[in-house]
Amino acid sequence: ANKLTIGLFGFGVVGEGIYQVLQQTPSLQATIKKICVKHPEKPRNAPPELFTTNGDELLNDPEINVIVELINDADDAYHIVTTALKGRKAVVSANKKLIAHHLPELLQLQKQYDIPFLYEAAVCGAIPIIRNLEEYYDNDLLRGICGIVNGSTNFILTKILAENLPYAKALQQAQDQGFAETDPTLDVEGYDAVNKLTILLAHGYGIVTHPDQLLFRGINQIHASDATYAAEKGLQIKLTAQAKKLSNGKVATFVLPQLVTNQSKLFDVPNENNGVVIESSFSDKQFLYGKGAGRFPTASAVLSDISALRYQYRYEYRKLKSALRTELTDDFYLRV
Ligand code: HSE
Repeated sequence: ANKLTIGLFGFGVVGEGIYQVLQQTPSLQATIKKICVKHPEKPRNAPPELFTTNGDELLNDPEINVIVELINDADDAYHIVTTALKGRKAVVSANKKLIAHHLPELLQLQKQYDIPFLYEAAVCGAIPIIRNLEEYYDNDLLRGICGIVNGSTNFILTKILAENLPYAKALQQAQDQGFAETDPTLDVEGYDAVNKLTILLAHGYGIVTHPDQLLFRGINQIHASDATYAAEKGLQIKLTAQAKKLSNGKVATFVLPQLVTNQSKLFDVPNENNGVVIESSFSDKQFLYGKGAGRFPTASAVLSDISALRYQYRYEYRKLKSALRTELTDDFYLRV
């Protein structure tokens, strides 16, 4: 389609962000026709006639050819995204939980209805990590992914270690600045990071799994004494998401807080930034760095997906199709 006519679900931190960003990028010729929200009575920085509480108005509107889904609830998002794909509307989503939990079905729908489903904003905010894994790495060359993929926990750890802020205050700041999930236990207990890791495994290795299958811990069990220890030794504590190809060809993977030395690229990733080291056979190590959470960084990734629809971009999932499809190892506790 030449003209992108958008139905937007959600007007929270990122929803309002993409609304503002689109107004500043008229050359894209993408307009928001309707915005579906839960609470229409809330004051908003957009014309009231744009808003509705009836999602079907967007999903059934033949003029709307793009659904941008930026809501919090993964179950409602599932209904919206699957209905939109079945109605042959392109979908852009930032809903990592939805994607991580329903990847096989969403892949199937995308294929069956031959319609783009893009979600670059779901992992590492502004960093184009999914595009990178899609475009540049063949299955058997990718040796490892090691990254900070959750901005809130990195922000909290930075505040605790660098500024001696108490945990509760640091968490409050992460919430106030719009980095944290509505339910911040998803951040601090590692759920958000493992959802993102699940998505990276699909694009990096062609491994389609469920977050429940992966080992993960958050930062909620880190004590003040751990921070003191790290400070004394000149170390950082980082919540890392990792996938590593083993010599038997299988992949070991986890989300865990780790002590990081200044030899690691992740050492210098402060606040809500994310950073990912990608290691492959010929390129050696590469490092991607940028804002992992927040209104405009996340909206910028949504914008890149919307603009990619112009040239009918879709994820190739070439690793999934590849004969070299990788498997997860079941003995990752011992092998890493
Ligand atoms: N709560 C998420 C984070 C938002 O802190 O990284 C971006 O996905």
